[in-house]
Amino acid sequence: MSASEQPVRRLTTSDIGRMYADGERIPMLTAYDFPTAKILDDAGIPMILVGDSLGQVALGYESTVRVTMDEMLHHTRAVVRGTRRALVIGDMPFLSYSTTEEATENAGRFLQDGGAQAVKIEGGVRSARIVEALVKSGVPVMGHIGWTPQSQHGMGGKVKVQGKSRDDARALLSDAIAIQQAGAFAIVLELVPEQLAAVITSRLRIPTIGIGAGPACSGQVQVITDLFGLGDFKPKHARAYADLQGTLAAATRAWMADVTAGSFPGPAETVRMDDAVLDEALGRTADDRAPGAVDRSVGSLIPLDRDL
Ligand code: KIV
Repeated sequence: MSASEQPVRRLTTSDIGRMYADGERIPMLTAYDFPTAKILDDAGIPMILVGDSLGQVALGYESTVRVTMDEMLHHTRAVVRGTRRALVIGDMPFLSYSTTEEATENAGRFLQDGGAQAVKIEGGVRSARIVEALVKSGVPVMGHIGWTPQSQHGMGGKVKVQGKSRDDARALLSDAIAIQQAGAFAIVLELVPEQLAAVITSRLRIPTIGIGAGPACSGQVQVITDLFGLGDFKPKHARAYADLQGTLAAATRAWMADVTAGSFPGPAETVRMDDAVLDEALGRTADDRAPGAVDRSVGSLIPLDRDL
């Protein structure tokens, strides 16, 4: 069987581990809906995160804190339906993993109801016990340390690079080691100085996936709207590879102009029926629709529903 004939197989955390062991840099993107997930999957992305950034970039909340389990599951199902190969990771929302019981129940919903293959949990040392319990129950877990948006209210509210002082750098290293020991298969490092991210990456034996953490991480993750150039805000760590905002705004204006001018829909976007059949339906002859003829179908000649 040639490579192109082989059935597409869903990637697993072992495949990600293999990429890491082979020294391949691992790309991951967020997605929240079916068509975007399909584009990413067809392009060959190995990991898709249904991030709780959903709240800000797709649902219009001011932060991720308001995102609920039901919202996450709804979008996870759409992403899973749009993918055949990518490993789909569901992001456990704020307060959905405060106890091991709650975490196990909600992680189970991501896997059983949402169809995800793994979950992501924010927090280092403070979340290690939860990560360990999930991994022991058979749930693959991705950690997330550095700037953890769900704890923003406890972290001073303002988005800030983490680990810049001596004590903070040591704490972050301990966080990374605790999450690795708890059994996570990878760790997101968000907003971490590149030198510290490089040290953490070199001391771990699981991949680090960076966002705003420099090039030395084992992989990189971006929020899809930043990559596509959608939205009014572009974080410093993001690079837009398209200007979908501009493209979509131009398409909207062009379509509105065509509707206003009467040039949409045109013949290509319109269906016709057999005129004779319409004459029959309306009880008129071909002469009745000759140019200049009085339209006798209006009024008494239009069959009423009860006559049909
Ligand atoms: O929710 C999200 O998109 C994330 C990424 C920033 C890693 O957690």
